[in-house]
Amino acid sequence: MSAKIISGKDLSAKLIKEILVPRVEKLKKQGITPKLIVLLVGTHTASASYVRQKELSAKKAGIISETWRYEKNVTETKLLKEIEKINKDKTIHGVIVQLPLPAHISIQKVLRTIHPSKDVDGFTPENIGKLFLGEPTIECCTPKGIIRMLEESGETLEGKKVTVIGRSNIVGKPVAALALNKSATVKICHSRTKNLNKEISDSEILIVAVGRPGFIHGDQIPKGCVVIDVGIHRKKEGGLCGDVHFESAKKKASKISPVPGGVGPMTVYSLIENTIEAAENTST
Ligand code: GUN
Repeated sequence: MSAKIISGKDLSAKLIKEILVPRVEKLKKQGITPKLIVLLVGTHTASASYVRQKELSAKKAGIISETWRYEKNVTETKLLKEIEKINKDKTIHGVIVQLPLPAHISIQKVLRTIHPSKDVDGFTPENIGKLFLGEPTIECCTPKGIIRMLEESGETLEGKKVTVIGRSNIVGKPVAALALNKSATVKICHSRTKNLNKEISDSEILIVAVGRPGFIHGDQIPKGCVVIDVGIHRKKEGGLCGDVHFESAKKKASKISPVPGGVGPMTVYSLIENTIEAAENTST
């Protein structure tokens, strides 16, 4: 058996064309062009690559995307002032601050300064809180993209045994909450979980977001499980790999998302969709 590949790359391209472009055209007829600002501090290589992909997808959807760049020694005060300026600017619908940030800048302070209505990453306490309450909100991009790719691949979450490996604030915790909101039976494991193999042995959907290359091997995956790999790592010999050992995993899984071309493009898709949603909310 070889797993069916869930291509986030193909899916996001299709959804941009079929869903986002018409929504943007409708907004433009009302005189609104959705506008996203990405604040990028320093020259982190991975961040620069993510930012390029965001700009490309924004262009395909027909929205405006600007990247505002700052030296790595920019002060926290300066960054907070920039966010306050964006909060007041009616022509800007969404803002994200690309993470990681240099150590002298408080992520908590930065996130609490972004107005929740423009928080298209869905990282502010208000938006995360609503997500956990199951209320409509701007949902974090990677978790939203994961649920979307599962559903578009034909998976229903209701009643399914979903195991999330990873407990970060930007993926593990919120994706568990979203799956729970869809009536899945959810278990969260992480790097300190004892007897991980036993914990994941009856999973029907496995979402791996631990941030360690090749952390999960095919041997550990229950036969027929759907595997979503959130990790992305640069290999020493060149190329990228995920948190899952793809070659062995695809022999056990029924469906699997690859790295690259899996979750990454769906994260970017969700960001553009969130920006359009934020713009639509200003028009009503
Ligand atoms: N760094 C890695 N992933 C993300 C993300 O989804 N949003 C932001 N702002 N920074 C990131």
